[in-house]
Amino acid sequence: MELKPLKNWTPDERISAVKNIFNTITPHYDLLNRIMSGRRDVTWRKFVVKRIPVDAKEVLDVATGTGDLAIAIADEAPGVHVIGADFVKKMMRLAQSKTQNRGFISKIDYVSADATKLPFKTGQFDAATIAFGLRNIPNRLSALHEMGRVVKSGGKVITLEMTFPQNLRLRSFFKWYLNHMIPLVGGLISGNMAAYRYLPDSIQDFLTPDQLSGLFESAGFKSIRAFPLTFGLTYLHEGIVE
Ligand SMILES: C[S@@+](CC[C@H](N)C(=O)[O-])C[C@H]1O[C@@H](n2cnc3c(N)ncnc32)[C@H](O)[C@@H]1O
Repeated sequence: MELKPLKNWTPDERISAVKNIFNTITPHYDLLNRIMSGRRDVTWRKFVVKRIPVDAKEVLDVATGTGDLAIAIADEAPGVHVIGADFVKKMMRLAQSKTQNRGFISKIDYVSADATKLPFKTGQFDAATIAFGLRNIPNRLSALHEMGRVVKSGGKVITLEMTFPQNLRLRSFFKWYLNHMIPLVGGLISGNMAAYRYLPDSIQDFLTPDQLSGLFESAGFKSIRAFPLTFGLTYLHEGIVE
């Protein structure tokens, strides 16, 4: 699979490339996440769970992929029912089998859905999360609007995304790591170097933490907060639905 530079893609080309990439890398996705982040991804998702309101009963995890965040929520927030939604069924089939292995089958349901057209009622959820998904969606504001629509008033929307650290030394190391190590390691393990070229491109093409806070404002969320994680390699953003 040859990928042209992200800036030259139309939104439709990006959506079909994203579907193609996640369909191809499903079996290696979890392992590569752990290797490439040095298992930090697990800690980052646990922090998302901590930011979910303690009284939440129904949580939606958008772009759930192989279900790691949905499973972390079910594991660490007892009494919560989670719906994981994604438009790549192959990723969710793996999520489903991991959910079964963990004994969480009654706590998590998976639904095939596009983040920009969620098949859920207005105000159905107490919170909605999206981890490492927003940067893959060309119309990010529309995805945030949809998450806000399905969360009840006073509920929370949370995003988790990789960003460039502010520290200049760390920034140049991260740039080298992203552009050289990730395609190499990802390509060797998954056999799909192009997919692991998309990953660094999509991180470099994504919004800065301040721009993402601005997008939360445009989506109409209140009490917006941003938390840097691991020297700002990743950011959690949250906002309250009016
Ligand atoms: C990098 S993975 C993240 C998976 C998971 N949230 C995690 O923490 O590992 C991105 C996921 O977003 C999904 N995705 C991308 N665009 C989407 C959209 N418009 N609607 C639903 N899912 C989408 C992909 O299919 C993929 O499973």
